[in-house]
Amino acid sequence: MSYKGIIFDLDGVICFTDQYHYQAWKEMADGIGVYFDEVINNRLRGVSRMASLDIILERSEKSYSEKEKEELAAQKNEIYKKLLEQMSPADLSEEVKNTLDELRNRGHKLAIGSSSKNTKMILKQLGLEGYFDAISDGTNITYSKPDPEVFLKAAAFLGLDPSDCLVVEDALAGIDAAVAGGFHGAGIGEAATHEKVTYPLEKFSDLLSVTRGEKDEV
Ligand code: BG6
Ligand code: MG
Repeated sequence: MSYKGIIFDLDGVICFTDQYHYQAWKEMADGIGVYFDEVINNRLRGVSRMASLDIILERSEKSYSEKEKEELAAQKNEIYKKLLEQMSPADLSEEVKNTLDELRNRGHKLAIGSSSKNTKMILKQLGLEGYFDAISDGTNITYSKPDPEVFLKAAAFLGLDPSDCLVVEDALAGIDAAVAGGFHGAGIGEAATHEKVTYPLEKFSDLLSVTRGEKDEV
């Protein structure tokens, strides 16, 4: 099917920040003596910063006030941002860049729909500042995925209806959000297994055939 707009999740789709999130949360959790590992980290994919902290604190015997939680989240974010400084355009794969360029050349409007409040910094590190036609991120939403708000805003910023846009996601919660908003969803990784995904992708460049209508919907 031909889509006027394509809305990309950022972390896990355009770039891979999992390890940085993990290291930063791990340092914070170690600091308060709370157990944290990569399995728990997997549950944080697509989840907002404060909701991620709540998941980590499930292992804590102490209960934290809202103010203390804000402080812990801020502490994690400082560590995370320091790690993001290592990112560079070399962290953007050729496959992703070439596919984005080709989609843009074919006339699709391209947007970001990410829960991350660090979206603009990450895009800058990757050399993609100013590349997308619209950015909807953690700074302009009240509700995080699986709520569709971030994608609905991205479509509105593009001036398009959800039915004219394809959402590309790696998280199950992201496909839930796409479906809830009335979007078709293309899933990569775990999101490809979502029962409501419109197109399960094996690799990012499969988007070139999907948006040409060469790949069957499931
Ligand atoms: C999502 C990540 O993109 O952004 C989550 O998948 C993360 O793991 C969320 O918690 C919020 O990120 P940030 O940068 O605002 O802390
Ligand atoms: Mg993601």
